[in-house]
Amino acid sequence: MTMPPSFTESKNKRQKARAAGLDPNYWYAVALSKNLQPGQVTRATFWGTHVAVYRDDRGAVHALEDRCPHRHLPLSIGLVEGDKLRCQYHGWAMDPSGALADVPHELFGMKMPQCRIRPYPIRERYGLVWVFFGDAENADKVPMPHIPDLEGPDRWACVPIEVTWKAHHSMILENVSDFTHEFLHRKWKPFADSKLTKLETNERGVFVSYDTKVGYGGLASKFIDRGRINTNSMELGYEYPYQWSNTDNQIKHWLICLPIDEQTTKGFFLFHFKNFKVPGTPLSVPRFLMEPIIKIANRIQITPLLGEDGVAVEAEQAGWNKHWDQPFAEISPAVHAFQALTIKKWEQHLEREAAKKLVKGSLNREARSESDEAAE
Ligand code: FES
Ligand SMILES: [Fe+2]
Repeated sequence: MTMPPSFTESKNKRQKARAAGLDPNYWYAVALSKNLQPGQVTRATFWGTHVAVYRDDRGAVHALEDRCPHRHLPLSIGLVEGDKLRCQYHGWAMDPSGALADVPHELFGMKMPQCRIRPYPIRERYGLVWVFFGDAENADKVPMPHIPDLEGPDRWACVPIEVTWKAHHSMILENVSDFTHEFLHRKWKPFADSKLTKLETNERGVFVSYDTKVGYGGLASKFIDRGRINTNSMELGYEYPYQWSNTDNQIKHWLICLPIDEQTTKGFFLFHFKNFKVPGTPLSVPRFLMEPIIKIANRIQITPLLGEDGVAVEAEQAGWNKHWDQPFAEISPAVHAFQALTIKKWEQHLEREAAKKLVKGSLNREARSESDEAAE
């Protein structure tokens, strides 16, 4: 059995979409803030690139190339000490800028080696730790997702969820944005009787709307105030590389996918809610009780519901690995639009990388010929 083709070998849109990466020149969530306590280090992987992400003893987060400059052990199995990350093997310690700061054994009369590894821009927002894996000089120019509903004293209630699925990111994007799979969720009914009413592609992304019955199953449905919220339609967006939904400006989510490799993706879901009502009454649930309720709903309903998607996309990936050369039977125009955007952005990224290489190559040639001339 041959494996699916690479992006450049792909012969059609679906093959390309299933082989495309995500442009690293965006901010990507890598961990839930609560899972990275002071003194802890973890490994974040973006499309095969490993980064050691740690929180120092004062609470600040840092990201370094996951490679000790000494003998290239992963630093993500090392120890956090103050604001430094110390390698497990001979104990060399790197500071947050990526410079070697300490060698705890004899130097044999030599000076401290001048070693440096790559630091990555890192931020923390909305209960998530974010890393910029692209060119560091772009980090400040590229905006993170802006979610005003999760900022300030009146911010909505949200308890982030992290999942890891053995599936390509495009399968996950299609799963969350395309409601033709409501059959899969016939038990929980997060959306039902869906009809696509809008599909628009513009310079910001792909936007779809559905007439659908939102959230009629399970515990969470009892807290939705249907007197105040129109739960008969939902809008969704694929604002590359992120995805979101909006139900009447009262229930929303953002999904930030972290593409680990061609067949593994982490997803960080930020479901957030403006209001809940006390079941069986018209009264609002006090704000301070909303997060505890979401925690329970996440455990007993949302995680099992997302688990259905996880099983489906992992099975889709397995099916794709076997049957990638079979005819393309996709009938949803929304899925075609998502794939087109994923492909276009990846092609643009590859073109920019190729142009950068070309410039670098010609600069190197110039430098070489100048030094040859100087030598003559
Ligand atoms: S390999 Fe890291 S200190 Fe030696
Ligand atoms: Fe789903």
